[in-house]
Formats: sequence, structure tokens, C-alpha cells
Amino acid sequence: MTLASEFVSTIRGVVGHSDEAIGLHVPEIGELEKKYILECLDSTFVSSVGAFIPKLEARMQEITGAKHAVAVSNGTVGLQVAMFLAGVEPGDEVVIPTLSFIATANAVSHCGAVPYFVDSEESTLGMSPAALRIALSSFEKVSGGLRNPVTGRRIAAIVPMHTLGHPVNIHAICEVAAEFGVPVVEDAAESLGSFVGGRHTGTFGLTGMISFNGNKIVTTGGGGVILTDDDELGRRAKHLTTTAKLAHKWEFEHDEVAWNYRMPNLNAALGMAQLDKYPRYLQQKRVLASRYAEAFAGVSGLSFVPEPAGTSSNYWLCAVRLDSPSLEVRDSLMSAAHEAGLLVRPMWNLLHQQRMYTGAGRGDVSVATDLHASLICIPSTPALAADLG
Ligand SMILES: Cc1ncc(COP(=O)(O)O)c(C=O)c1O
Repeated sequence: MTLASEFVSTIRGVVGHSDEAIGLHVPEIGELEKKYILECLDSTFVSSVGAFIPKLEARMQEITGAKHAVAVSNGTVGLQVAMFLAGVEPGDEVVIPTLSFIATANAVSHCGAVPYFVDSEESTLGMSPAALRIALSSFEKVSGGLRNPVTGRRIAAIVPMHTLGHPVNIHAICEVAAEFGVPVVEDAAESLGSFVGGRHTGTFGLTGMISFNGNKIVTTGGGGVILTDDDELGRRAKHLTTTAKLAHKWEFEHDEVAWNYRMPNLNAALGMAQLDKYPRYLQQKRVLASRYAEAFAGVSGLSFVPEPAGTSSNYWLCAVRLDSPSLEVRDSLMSAAHEAGLLVRPMWNLLHQQRMYTGAGRGDVSVATDLHASLICIPSTPALAADLG
């Protein structure tokens, strides 16, 4: 048997056989979603005011333990505001992993700043604390912080990302960041339900963001939340994402230039139904992951990607890794799976190679380059472990 056919048959052994293609991560939309959405429609509050929005924020505070959770229209704008609140200004530089979705870099650009790319760590797939230390050590200490001597820009924030839901080595990253006096903003877009030592991802930095995009473990259609424990930043997150309007029964007075980034109530209604079911989703995803881990244990040349030691991952996207990185072999496995109706996908193209970002600064990115050439994400819909539900 070729590696490609073994790859396909191992996935099939876990997810079963079907005539229809099996998606990577398909949302489960059922009666509860319809009920809450109808309730929202009947209320006529379909836009940026309505009862479901504060309910969703309260539920997210409960789940994450964050003091403040502010609902926004998508994760990308949430990350932009999270960086803005942490002090990122036009002309600054922000350290991010090169192995991430484009939104991490774009959110930096939307702040008027530019990214500086660092490498990943094999064990977490996320930002390497060692690579971060090398990058920060190469910058100069100036009054008020750190400056990249090559570009002359201030280093305003560090944005680690929890890749595929697997927690990054956040304690080590926060330690390095604190040593150099740079705030951490967590891109926890993919990691709702992922914990480090019992603490939810997205709550370690000064601010953080979780996405509710349609492909995430919980969806609002489009949406996200900004997380923070800081009361003033929590207040500003809400104020700035709701046009900075001063509370008044009829006057339209706004005290700064701000955004209309509020999550609509209609989306929050969908999200509340999903959040009611989220404990089951999380359980199903972890069971699915353990089935894949067991099935791939017997395949040589490939290994299942486990949660990092000391963490609990939501396994947003389960993934396997080629023992020897090779884009050619990776793509042969991808093609075989697609032909067999399994909609697997590779990692994102590395950010430093995306045309908008080729001019940005970076350190050595060899681990990320290998990860890009060796990882394949495999079907991860919770319902694939439906026998549990
Ligand atoms: C790592 C990462 N950052 C940011 C985002 C942006 O979130 P959204 O799609 O909700 O804008 C996503 C996902 O979509 C993501 O995977």
C-alpha cells in the first residue's frame, strides 16, 4: 500500500464511509439555532442591540474566566482592536508567527503597523519562545521600550497564536515578553475550549481574541470576542467597537473616532444555540482526536499531532504530520484524500511569503517551513464522533 492510500484508508477507518464528501469542519445547525434565530427575528432586534449579545458575552466570560468579553463582528477586527488597546500605533512593529492565518498579519496592518515574523516550535506548532527571545535580543532598548535597529520602528506587541487549537507555550512567551517590557495580545481565534493548566487560552495576554467564524468549534456565522481582565480596556473595547457613543436617550454624541464592529444580535442568537451545545462539541472533538491518534499510531511515515504536554486542546483541526517534510509527498496525500471525498487541507502559506509581507523583517523560520511542508489537517467536525452525542 502507498502512503497516500494508507492515509486515506486510516481516515476512513475513523470517520466511516459515505457517498458525500466529508468536509474539514462543518457546523451543526439544528432546531435550537432555528428557535433562537426566530426568537431574535420576532423581537425585531436583529442588529447591534438585543438580548442575545450580552448573554453571549456573559457566557464567554463564564467559559474563559475573562473579566470582560466584548462581542464583535469577526475575529479579524477583534484582533485589530485587541492590538489597538494594547497600544499598537501606526508605524509600530508587531512580532507574530509566520505560521498563521493571514488575519494575524492583516490585523497588524489594519493598525497601521507592520509585522515582524518569528519561527514556530515543533511541540506546539505556535510561536517559539526561543525564537522570540532571539528576535527581541536583536532589538535595541530605548526609552519607552524596544526598537528594531534595522527599521527604526518601535516593537509594540507580541501576538502568539494557538495553532489549530493547540495551546502555544504561553507561559514562556509571557515571561520573555515581560522581560523585554512588551505586551502580549493572544490570537486565540482557533482555541475556544483550549486550556493551559486549567486557564483558558486568550486570557494570558493583556488582551486576546476568539473567533466564531463558520469553520470554528462554535460559530455565530461571523463574529468573535475580545477578552481582557483589565476593566478600563474592557470598557474601551466595548466603547470603541460601538462608535464611541455617549449613553443618552436621544443625543448622538461620540467622544472619539471609533468603529461599528459590534456583533449583530442575529449572529449572537446563532452563537447562543451553539454555545449551549459547546460542551458536547468539545467532548466529541477530543474523542475524535483520540481515535485518530490510535489509528495513525500504526502508520509509518506519518504521525498524529497531539496536544502539547500540560495543556488541554480543543483539537479544532486534527492534523497529521509527515516524518520527513516534503511538499511533493504532502500534496500527493492531499490529492488522494480529495479524490476519495475527504476534504483535507494544508497549513496556510507562510506569512513572510505572502506578497504583501515579503518586505517585513523576520528571524530564522526553518521550523515553520518544515511544519508547512509536513502538516495536513484532516476532517474534524464534532459530529464525526456522533455516536457520543
Ligand atoms: C489564527 C486566526 N487568526 C484570526 C482569524 C480571524 O478570524 P475571523 O475569520 O473571525 O475574522 C482566524 C480565523 O478565521 C484565525 O484562524
